[in-house]
Amino acid sequence: MARPRPFVAGNWKMNGLRSSAAEMIRIVQGARALTAVDLMICPPATLLGLFASIVEGSPVRLGAQDCHTQSNGAFTGDISAEMLKDAGASAVIVGHSERRTYHKETDADVRAKGLAARRAGLCAIVCVGETRTERENGRALAVVRTQLEGSIPDGATADNLVVAYEPVWAIGSGLTPTPADVAEMHGSIRQLLRSQFAEEGAGMRILYGGSVKPSNAKELLGIADVDGALVGGASLKADEFLAIAGVYR
Ligand code: PGA
Repeated sequence: MARPRPFVAGNWKMNGLRSSAAEMIRIVQGARALTAVDLMICPPATLLGLFASIVEGSPVRLGAQDCHTQSNGAFTGDISAEMLKDAGASAVIVGHSERRTYHKETDADVRAKGLAARRAGLCAIVCVGETRTERENGRALAVVRTQLEGSIPDGATADNLVVAYEPVWAIGSGLTPTPADVAEMHGSIRQLLRSQFAEEGAGMRILYGGSVKPSNAKELLGIADVDGALVGGASLKADEFLAIAGVYR
C-alpha cells in the first residue's frame, strides 16, 4: 500500500480570540501553495463557527480538541461531537495528555469519545504517549501499546482514525525524542494497527507531536511511519505552521 497522504494539524489548545481570525486567514492563504499535505487547525470550540467561514472553499479543515461521549443531554459545559460537526469541524482530538492528566480521562473514556466522533461523522485523532519516567524505565513501547489497545475503537478506518504519538515530556518542553526512538515507536504503532486492522491499518496516519517546530520538522517528518505532525505552540503562528507543513512539497 502507498504511504498515507501527509497530514499536519495544529492544536491551538486554550488559545485564541476572535481577533485571531487574522492569523487563521494567513494560514488559509499560505495553504493554497501546499498541495502535498492535508492541513487542519483545531481552535478552541468558541472559534469554530467563525473559522468555518474563513476556511470555506480552502483546503484547510477544522478540528476540535475534545468531545463528550453523548450526543446531547444534561451535561453542563460539555460539547458533543454532533455539535462540533455542526459548527464546522471534521475531526476531533481525543485523549490528549492534557485531558488525560487534568481531566483524569482513561483509555476507556478516550475510546468512547472516539466512538462518539465516528457516530457524528468526525475523524478521531487519538493521542497516546509515555511520561518521562516511563521512558527512563524502558516502558515507553509497552505503555503506548496499552494505551492504543484501550483507546482505539473497533472497526476504525483510515478515514475516521488518526493516531498521534505525543511523548508527554516532549509537549511544550522544547525536547524531542531521538529520531531512532521516534522510528522505533512509530514502527511499533504501525505493527499494532496492521495486526488489528490488516491492510486498512497500513493506510492509517500516525502523527508525531511534541515540540515540533520549523527547525526540527524536516528531520522528524522524514522518519519512517511518521505521516505528519500534531503541532501545539508553533501552530499559533501562521508562518511557523506553514513552514512545518511546507516540509511536504
Ligand atoms: P507542542 O504541543 O507542539 O506545543 O509541544 C503539542 C501538542 O500538545 O499537541
